[in-house]
Amino acid sequence: MGGRRGIFVTLEGGEGSGKTTQSRRIVQYLRARGREVLETREPGGTDAGEMIRDILLHRVASLSPRAELALYLASRSQLVQEIVRPNLEKGVDVICDRYADSSTAYQGGGRELGIELVEDLNDWATAGLEPDLTFYFEVAASTGLTRREARSGGEDLDRIEREDLDFHERVGRAYREIAARHAHRFRVVSTEGGEEAVWERVQRELDERLVAKEKEAHS
Ligand code: TYD
Repeated sequence: MGGRRGIFVTLEGGEGSGKTTQSRRIVQYLRARGREVLETREPGGTDAGEMIRDILLHRVASLSPRAELALYLASRSQLVQEIVRPNLEKGVDVICDRYADSSTAYQGGGRELGIELVEDLNDWATAGLEPDLTFYFEVAASTGLTRREARSGGEDLDRIEREDLDFHERVGRAYREIAARHAHRFRVVSTEGGEEAVWERVQRELDERLVAKEKEAHS
């Protein structure tokens, strides 16, 4: 079994899509199957990344779209080099709450920097590291924002969450376009029906991917 790479799973979605809960469940599920799993998040996941996260979400009131993108890319680049790639190479599964597609959707779509440009820059920042599987938790922008605000009372919203509905709708449209461009790794998951129903959908896709991966390893 020497040289078996871990599986790289990313979770994507708008505000209030419940993806963090699903991320925990994926980790527990894989561990219960005897796999070694590392859970991380973006922006953040490294010392430099957590500092960058603080700047991006809480420290400054405004940032130019290009400066914002550059900071997300810097955090991602560090995470890939320090954490994601070495762990995958050791055979550890890596589950990442947001990854490159978030920049494509939020900065490419939301900030209107352009999907293709951001995809090229992601490719550069990650030295071409793509996930094996990406779950996109679909929720209408208005529903997601309402859920998010209900949870926090509107008090602790970060700089991105404070953006208006138009911004979040552009993000949603960009995600659907990205999902279509990368249909081989994207799984669009409906968030209707509550946590258990969503988990059943995720588990089914995950099982399918694991079986395919095991076949690859034996061929
Ligand atoms: P976080 O608290 O992790 O939000 P969530 O629970 O929604 O994942 O905050 C991350 C915020 O940063 C989120 O609003 C999405 C945004 N973001 C970008 O705009 N571009 C990116 O590349 C990434 C990774 C996140």
